[in-house]
Amino acid sequence: RKYTVPYEELGAEKLAELIHAFYRKVAKHPDLMPIFPPDLTETARKQIQFQTQYLGGPNLFTEEHGHPMMRARHTPFPITPKRAQAWLECMAEAMDEVGLQGKFRETYYQRLVLTAHHMINTPDDDE
Ligand code: HEM
Repeated sequence: RKYTVPYEELGAEKLAELIHAFYRKVAKHPDLMPIFPPDLTETARKQIQFQTQYLGGPNLFTEEHGHPMMRARHTPFPITPKRAQAWLECMAEAMDEVGLQGKFRETYYQRLVLTAHHMINTPDDDE
């Protein structure tokens, strides 16, 4: 069977929909709001670039910003276990909103769980 990269299975349009739905939730989340900029336009643009390559599509993020080094890029922000959970909840709700289902959603989400946990750099009681 021919292998299709997840990016192609999802589609560029659906990915953009997902990321925009995600940041609408981030903007309203009491634990996340304080560490994000008030205007999330640029954040969303970079996240779409990153997710495109994370899902096996063209390396849009690297082309514009260099090596992802995602954990290093997050060190200016206190990423607590509570905030990782909040981030993942916003993502799960965004996936519901745009209708991602089944095996594709499960695999993608589980990968994001691992990446989100890897970003944690601050204990909950230090925030
Ligand atoms: C940037 C928070 C997890 C990908 C950021 C920024 C914050 C943040 C505050 C800076 C936004 C800005 O200044 O525009 C968090 C929190 C997470 C988390 C609280 C919880 C674990 C993740 C995960 C990924 C990710 C799991 C990827 C799968 C990105 C990308 C950027 C970013 C691509 C833009 C980097 C850049 O400016 O070059 N994140 N993040 N983040 N985050 Fe996260």
